[in-house]
Amino acid sequence: MLVSAKDMLNKARDGKYAVGQFNINNLEWTKAVLLAAQENNSPVILGVSEGAGKYMGGYKTIVGMVNGMLEELKITVPVALHLDHGSYEGALQVIEAGFSSVMFDGSHYSIDENIQKTKEIIKIAEEKGLSLEAEVGSIGGEEDGVVGNGEIADAAECKLIADLGVTMLAAGIGNIHGKYPENWKGLDFSALAAIKDATGDVPLVLHGGTGIPEDMIKQAISLGVAKINVNTECQLSFAEATRKYIESGKDLQGKGFDPRKLLAPGFEAIKATVKEKMELFGSINQA
Ligand code: 13P
Repeated sequence: MLVSAKDMLNKARDGKYAVGQFNINNLEWTKAVLLAAQENNSPVILGVSEGAGKYMGGYKTIVGMVNGMLEELKITVPVALHLDHGSYEGALQVIEAGFSSVMFDGSHYSIDENIQKTKEIIKIAEEKGLSLEAEVGSIGGEEDGVVGNGEIADAAECKLIADLGVTMLAAGIGNIHGKYPENWKGLDFSALAAIKDATGDVPLVLHGGTGIPEDMIKQAISLGVAKINVNTECQLSFAEATRKYIESGKDLQGKGFDPRKLLAPGFEAIKATVKEKMELFGSINQA
């Protein structure tokens, strides 16, 4: 059964580790992430962006697929199904469809409007027992065609949003989605410390987990980050393994064109990447 992300994140915050959110794109992705979590006895959050939701045939399709896998693959570790960077309408749709967690990203609104809309979504999410992630300071990089500048969130604004009763808070600290450029300055740890100071117990979320050096990940966790989002890195691993399969001509040998064979190396590559991240985040054996 899907669970809210609340307990797993509070436990992670107290235990000084982070739970990974791995974005899913299709059946292979979902199965790879779930099996990696089960094999490593780790809690996990499946992230679905609005674009990925459309791609997979709608939120209800995803809920059906994930619930089916939880049962048939005998997944017993805590799993949350979470909308990533949701709009107001998207948040309402996933709540209706049966997700167990939702992000309402109001970071592109004025702080007053962000507060107002976040408040409304919290109320609805709470009634249904879902966890809610809010965002202050837009995360840079490109995701689903939305390009942000990578702002550093204002600690006082973070406090205003945290005090609304959000389950978890994403705050920009120089992190961006996708690959980091050569001249990236790194995470802003003094901003993170100030945000932690201002927001108290709320587990913090680090977006853009792809390509952040290990020491920075560890430092972020020590400063209150309890959830780390990874998307691009699984895509890169999948693409690389699939490319190798095709380039070595395996699809042309025997039944190598069978999608169950063709997608197998990519599937294994996602599993390996997820495991690597769970080790780094410290969530193994924390289920
Ligand atoms: P990356 O694609 O950089 O790993 O970021 C993922 C993310 O933050 C999803 O919200």
